[in-house]
Amino acid sequence: MVAHDPRKVALLTGANKGIGFETARQLGAMGMVVLVGARDPGRGERAAAMLRKEGIHARFVLLDVTKEETIKGAVDFVERQFRRLDVLVNNAGVLLPNAPSVGQGSAVRPPSDCTIESLRQTFETNFFGAFMVTKAFLPLLRRSEAGRIVNVSSMQASLQNKADYGRENGHTLFLAYCASKTALNVLTAVCANELRDTPIKINSICPGYVDTDLSSHMGTKSPAEAARIPVHYATLSADGPTGGFFDESGPIPW
Ligand SMILES: NC(=O)c1ccc[n+]([C@@H]2O[C@H](COP(=O)([O-])OP(=O)(O)OC[C@H]3O[C@@H](n4cnc5c(N)ncnc54)[C@H](OP(=O)(O)O)[C@@H]3O)[C@@H](O)[C@H]2O)c1
Repeated sequence: MVAHDPRKVALLTGANKGIGFETARQLGAMGMVVLVGARDPGRGERAAAMLRKEGIHARFVLLDVTKEETIKGAVDFVERQFRRLDVLVNNAGVLLPNAPSVGQGSAVRPPSDCTIESLRQTFETNFFGAFMVTKAFLPLLRRSEAGRIVNVSSMQASLQNKADYGRENGHTLFLAYCASKTALNVLTAVCANELRDTPIKINSICPGYVDTDLSSHMGTKSPAEAARIPVHYATLSADGPTGGFFDESGPIPW
């Protein structure tokens, strides 16, 4: 029974690979208990085992952010084992093509080609999932002395950038992805307002363009380098910001 474990407890969604895995590794190396949220038991267990080999206190937690029963199961597990949650990193995310039916290269088709299925599927994970997980874990975060929530967003969420339609930026074509991350940023802003009289801080971050499966390994940053940003906002001191949107250089336009 580790109900009074003095170490901070961090839960990350989509932590079996990429930025989530590296964020778990870095928080674990700082001495936190890391709960490796993953939707696939094999991938999640393997990731947690890799971290344990490095001396990190890591546990796999089954968590598909689109499945309420797994979210409830994860809450019950954390409640039973730790009674509180100190850090939640809403990292799980998908980047689907605008028009899945047209095959390779469809990701860069224009926004008007975007299918409603692609929009719905993307929102299920990137926005509704993050909302459900945040709502479900809020009671446990409220029990922490210094709860921290990090929403892993994207520069592609920035309306200011999107409004600049003349820009040579192929990513503006990812309608579903961009819209879902903009919605995630709204979640950050409104929750920060709701939680303003509590010690809980919630921020959105952009990790940069990162070499992961999601970017088809086109990203220029390593996951380890990118993870420093969510780690920073997961470990903010009491005088740190809340309700903001940041990348490695500081605040970025909404
Ligand atoms: N890479 C970039 O350049 C970049 C830039 C800006 C923002 N981001 C954001 O960074 C976050 C992490 O992405 P990444 O680049 O590290 O990509 P990644 O390597 O593809 O990792 C994505 C993670 O999300 C998980 N996931 C997807 N759907 C899920 C669901 N329904 N429930 C639980 N987990 C789910 C994946 O699990 P499976 O292994 O089971 O699929 C995987 O663990 C995402 O939110 C992404 O939008 C990435």
